[in-house]
Amino acid sequence: MAVVTGAGQGIGAAVARDLVEQGYRVAVVDLNGGEKVADSLGERGLAVEADVADEDSMAAARTRILDAFGRVDVLINNAAIFSTLEMKSFEDISVPEWDRVMAVNVRGVFVCCRTFSPDLRAAEHGRIINLSSGAVLLGRPGYLHYVASKAAVIGLTRSLARELGGSGVTVNAIAPGSTETEVPRATVTPADVAAIIAGQAIKRRQTSADLLGAMAFLAGTASGFVTGQTLVVDGGMTFN
Ligand SMILES: NC(=O)c1ccc[n+]([C@@H]2O[C@H](COP(=O)([O-])OP(=O)(O)OC[C@H]3O[C@@H](n4cnc5c(N)ncnc54)[C@H](O)[C@@H]3O)[C@@H](O)[C@H]2O)c1
Repeated sequence: MAVVTGAGQGIGAAVARDLVEQGYRVAVVDLNGGEKVADSLGERGLAVEADVADEDSMAAARTRILDAFGRVDVLINNAAIFSTLEMKSFEDISVPEWDRVMAVNVRGVFVCCRTFSPDLRAAEHGRIINLSSGAVLLGRPGYLHYVASKAAVIGLTRSLARELGGSGVTVNAIAPGSTETEVPRATVTPADVAAIIAGQAIKRRQTSADLLGAMAFLAGTASGFVTGQTLVVDGGMTFN
């Protein structure tokens, strides 16, 4: 039984579909768009409208999920303010915009981990997978709040791995490179795509499908002794 936040579109939706194909039941948690994805998953999918940054909203989401599925084994913290972000110089980022990105991308991960920790601790192989970003390793300019938020996710992953290790729960992060999804992003021009591909060891555009193997490994039992790690899936853009 898996919870995938931000699964109403993009990478989260692709992950939700793949987990269902693997036999998981999946709660599609999103502010919007969850119904459409959950419907496409059939009886193994459950749409839950919730805000990851809001603890009351997530407490209500947990109640719905436990009523429907009775347990949670895997939590994938994928929701973030990302495709809607405008690139801008750091001097042009307002404090409210900074705070909103941090509230969703960092506090949201914390709130979801805390909300589901009783269930993950009770699971035989509890798993948390957090979405960071290769932008942290590149130090990409143009969205300082986003890059800072994704760096925070790596620190949170490491500390939480130590806090939950005694309960047998693993906590890892995946850092994708620039990934094409069905969602158009004005910030990625054809010239950007060419530059991204030129920078990768593997010379093609990364898609959501490229993340599914890493996701399945970290969600499954084979990764039981792997925790606190950040697995970079970027076609060889960076080596860490
Ligand atoms: N696509 C990329 O190039 C890329 C690269 C590196 C990392 N990532 C990370 O992967 C994850 C998914 O990326 P994506 O491209 O699918 O992003 P996206 O912007 O297309 O989708 C994000 C989803 O999160 C949801 N969401 C936003 N705020 C929420 C909230 N408060 N509560 C609940 N749901 C909320 C949105 O409704 C949306 O469905 C993000 O964490 C992103 O930072 C993406």
